[in-house]
Amino acid sequence: SVNLDLNLYGSHPFYLDVRNENEVVLFVFIIIFIFLNLSSKSNEEEETMIGYGYRIGWVKVDPSAKSLTATLHLIKNSSIYGPDIPNLTLFARLETKDRLRVRIIDSEHERWEVPADIIPRQNPSEIPLNGYIRSKDNQILTSLSSPSSDLVFTLHNTTPFGFSVQRRSHSGQLFTTAPDLVFKDQYIQLSSSLPLQTSSLFGLGEHTKRSFKLQHNDTFTLWNADIGSVNLDLNLYGSHPFYLDVRNENEVVASHGVLLLNSNGMDVEYTGDRITYKIIGGVIDLYFFAGPSPDLVIQQYTELIGRPAPMPYWSFGFHQCRYGYKNVSDLESVVAGYAKAKIPLEVMWTDIDYMDAYKDFTLDPINFPLYKMKKFVDSLHGEDQKYVVILDPGISINQSYETFIRGMKADIFIKRNGIPYSGVVWPGPVYFPDFLDPKAHTFWADEIKRFREKMLAVDGLWIDMNEISNFIDPDPIPFSTLDDPPYKINNAGVQRPINNKTVPATAIHYGNITEYNSHNLYGFLESKATNAALVQATGKRPFVLSRSTFVGSGKYTAHWTGDNAATWDDLAYTIPSILNFGLFGIPMVGADICGFSRNTTEELCRRWIQLGAFYPFARDHSDKYTVRQELYLWDSVAASARKVLGLRYRLLPYFYTAMYEAHTKGIPIARPLFFTFPQDLETYEISSQFLIGRGVMVSPVLKSGATLVDAYFPEGNWFDLFNFSNAVSVDKGKRITLSVPQDHINVHAREGNIIAMQGEAMTTAAARKTAFHLVVIISITEETTGELFLDDGDDVTMAEEAQAEKWTLVKFYANLTGNVLTIGSQVVNAEFALSQKWVIDEVTLLGLEKGKRLEGHNGLPHGIMNPSLKRHSDFRASFVDSDQFVTVQLL
Ligand code: GLC
Repeated sequence: SVNLDLNLYGSHPFYLDVRNENEVVLFVFIIIFIFLNLSSKSNEEEETMIGYGYRIGWVKVDPSAKSLTATLHLIKNSSIYGPDIPNLTLFARLETKDRLRVRIIDSEHERWEVPADIIPRQNPSEIPLNGYIRSKDNQILTSLSSPSSDLVFTLHNTTPFGFSVQRRSHSGQLFTTAPDLVFKDQYIQLSSSLPLQTSSLFGLGEHTKRSFKLQHNDTFTLWNADIGSVNLDLNLYGSHPFYLDVRNENEVVASHGVLLLNSNGMDVEYTGDRITYKIIGGVIDLYFFAGPSPDLVIQQYTELIGRPAPMPYWSFGFHQCRYGYKNVSDLESVVAGYAKAKIPLEVMWTDIDYMDAYKDFTLDPINFPLYKMKKFVDSLHGEDQKYVVILDPGISINQSYETFIRGMKADIFIKRNGIPYSGVVWPGPVYFPDFLDPKAHTFWADEIKRFREKMLAVDGLWIDMNEISNFIDPDPIPFSTLDDPPYKINNAGVQRPINNKTVPATAIHYGNITEYNSHNLYGFLESKATNAALVQATGKRPFVLSRSTFVGSGKYTAHWTGDNAATWDDLAYTIPSILNFGLFGIPMVGADICGFSRNTTEELCRRWIQLGAFYPFARDHSDKYTVRQELYLWDSVAASARKVLGLRYRLLPYFYTAMYEAHTKGIPIARPLFFTFPQDLETYEISSQFLIGRGVMVSPVLKSGATLVDAYFPEGNWFDLFNFSNAVSVDKGKRITLSVPQDHINVHAREGNIIAMQGEAMTTAAARKTAFHLVVIISITEETTGELFLDDGDDVTMAEEAQAEKWTLVKFYANLTGNVLTIGSQVVNAEFALSQKWVIDEVTLLGLEKGKRLEGHNGLPHGIMNPSLKRHSDFRASFVDSDQFVTVQLL
């Protein structure tokens, strides 16, 4: 004891804490650490009787009952897929009022987890726990339950242990683990029971599925792969281990969400009464989102993973692309073709054809020479049109290629065996930039800047092949069990080795991170780098379109559903695929209109543009060697395109306001019907219709030869948005047969909505200059409201509170009082809109019964109204300078 400050003869992990808070001195005695060893003799007896799993060691709960830590100990080794990890630590924490996190890790060794700069989060282990111990006197060892949280976590003191998650506001077990937790280095298995009759699941992608609602007895494999979306039921380009679970218990409908934040390959098996995760690495990091409505679940989910990036206004225009454009005059003739046919074309794209021998950041000197391309891009810009090109991650290994030389110098390529790993893509042998390396972000940004300055001032970038796709054949010889893990996920539906057609799992990234662990993150990281590069190079809001995605990709990129085919089935599958990406927080999503591979037909392309005009991201794209499919090539397709894109362009303010809602709250642009009608159980089954925003419903034709379409209408009055008539009025959700002449798609807006439209035009810039037209669809039983978000459309940020001068939000309302209808607005940050001098010069009132509407207002049962149209176009109003700008005396 002569030694100051050293550990001495005894150990007393006890302290006395004297607090002086608000003049009151509190003496708090806190026992900070007592180990309650639960391994008694009776446990040993149980162990021989019960199979695998873990038992609880000690549990520590923080005094507010918001977080706990428990140790878990292996009961018995299982023999397959390698040795078990003997000791685990479980952290559970009520993170917000509607989010619970449960994380289970190896107590002794650090394991791979999704980096915190991808999904920023604080690991619960870092939270000091002034804890106390719950004793083992009953089955429920302890619960985390707090009045400030809707979720309750319960740790079950069974052997093996288990846990469950409940929700206070709507009773029922949301998640109840089975005792079969397996935790090995390369195999983790966790499952939860689900109530077969009352639960419906959505999400778990990316997959092409027939139906939006997940079917029972299906496996969802997550391992990013260059597998065309033409393939049903296979793992595709992105990984989103997130599902939305909608429960209907005793007539009460409530939703919650579950994310397993893990980037390793996995199979998720869903039987209907059970969900089982079989993961080949990482840790268990589960997040539960309390909902209880579907849109709240997505709000809570995107609060964690990051809200979707704002997209530039122009990106809501129509895009034309093709793999196989031959030269600059080919591009020019396409642009001219659209102009001549008077079909709006906002963005012209070029696929890998523009490159010199498929090398990124180069131009083919013969077919796409610099001077001609510059002139072409300038002329697009002169017409307020935009230009986007493709980039692939693979950098051609070529000693005379400057991008390659700079990449080698910067040492930014993924390595295997100590040297850059060589794969094969379009240009032949390539190295892949390692986007886990910050230096690769600098390299990429420099290349993009250089390309924009020295070659083409592109407006956006399309990043493809970033799963990573690798044409190399045969698969590399495995170096270790990383290349050939003991548990084979169902890659490509045939347990194809995980190394097949991608970078081998033993490749090494920056920080000694293996491809095995980070594979699913590549597209995410490239999107992040590309987004930042564009901001740096242009100073404007970036537009990035990425094929591969992961949890949180929506913060940086839009997505298209990849290589579909020109078939009627593929046309139908686009709806569930697009709706899924809305759930995944990537609302700017579309599918190749008219089909990518195979030859399209006039009828298919016509029906496809009718539907595609209402995708959030609307791009016609096709494969090389297929027939050309620009919309002007057939008269009937051109006529339809003018009609449907005409409506899209009139709806641009509405689409853009939906983008604002997506960016600020996470709610998708294209939504399943049940987002607006969560209590209508029929809507959960629908995969052939969707909503844009809250109140516009699209009911497309998905079959060849159809003259009628069967569409489901949730209760209310609905108006055809093309002509404001053809109203459908249903008391209760109902299937209605609608006629679909060859040039028509049914697009209806529902009562209770006020939709701010603008005029048709050939570009979004021109459309933005037209006067507004307010479509007010009065409801006599519900509020009638609508929102309109306005800003310049390409500022890097959107709706920043500190930049009030840059944007305006108008909240419209309509009130019927006596026989006076008032339409007014509340305006947030009026200055911006006033500076733009926008006006409303037309108001269309729908939903009022001619002559008798007042009787209707006073107690006429909902649904029997005979909606009629009344137009008031004899005034002009600025919707920001008056609170009640339209007052209509009803006849
Ligand atoms: C991939 C893309 C496709 C593109 C092609 C050529 O297949 O998914 O859209 O046209 O590569 O770059």
